[in-house]
Amino acid sequence: MPITLVKAWTGAQQRLKAANIDSPAIDARLLLEAATDATRTDIITDPYRELTAEQEATLNTYLDRRAKREPVARILGRKGFWKLLLNLSDHVLIPRPETEVIVDMILKKTQPADAFTLADLGIGSGAILLSVLSERPAAKGLGTDISEEALAVARDNAANLGLDGRAAFLRTSWGSGLADASFDIVASNPPYIRSDVIPMLDPEVKNHDPMLALDGGPTGLAAYEELAPEIFRLLKPGGHALVEIGFDQSQDVESLMKDAGFGDVATWLDLSNQPRVVTATKPS
Ligand SMILES: C[S@@+](CC[C@H](N)C(=O)[O-])C[C@H]1O[C@@H](n2cnc3c(N)ncnc32)[C@H](O)[C@@H]1O
Repeated sequence: MPITLVKAWTGAQQRLKAANIDSPAIDARLLLEAATDATRTDIITDPYRELTAEQEATLNTYLDRRAKREPVARILGRKGFWKLLLNLSDHVLIPRPETEVIVDMILKKTQPADAFTLADLGIGSGAILLSVLSERPAAKGLGTDISEEALAVARDNAANLGLDGRAAFLRTSWGSGLADASFDIVASNPPYIRSDVIPMLDPEVKNHDPMLALDGGPTGLAAYEELAPEIFRLLKPGGHALVEIGFDQSQDVESLMKDAGFGDVATWLDLSNQPRVVTATKPS
């Protein structure tokens, strides 16, 4: 007998609760919406709509995967970031809301009509670069990544969002091969988790985010040690650097930026009041 939207939703929540999933109600709703093409409003206003056998089977597959701690964004292959919906593959980090702090800060440093150049080193799905380009129509940007598979996702997202005319992509290590003093702003959200901490992370992260996006080496600082002098080299005089950091890395990353020659070095908090972004300016 076919089940209804409301019954499917209740059953999905119970299933995820029994599997100790943190947010069973939200996850159940997102998976149900995707499996049935129903909207959140449909579930409330048309609760007795029946699922087809195929929709029910799809929902069950999604619930099995979530119960085994696969994140919803991986199951659906997409994630909202800033005002964009980004496609994902197994080769890119699921973009995190904390990273929106960098986007917000770049928008505060620029005016809507400014024609600046931005580099996003370690672009992943394209979250930072594409969000900024979507808000700043005269800006141009370049995203680099060591992973060709990640770059393919970023390129695809740029094309889907109509931003590919202003975005370029390059497979390289951070800024290697790029000309000195060629950008007004350089941003990066590098891998920054200490290698020995990775086994303690939630299964959603350690089993499903790419290791290249997580592992910051024995101290967690390996990427910043390379990035600080490299970002300095890439920036025009007076240009701005913004790097995402882990909650306990402010002092170390600030020191690396100062040692590289930056001025105005400062740390900014995210919405949970955790240190999240280090900014710095290349002296004019
Ligand atoms: C934490 S993820 C951030 C992805 C994206 N910028 C975001 O915020 O969602 C770090 C990214 O850096 C890339 N990466 C790691 N080592 C790199 C290197 N040496 N050069 C360039 N990219 C690198 C990874 O492949 C991954 O896409």
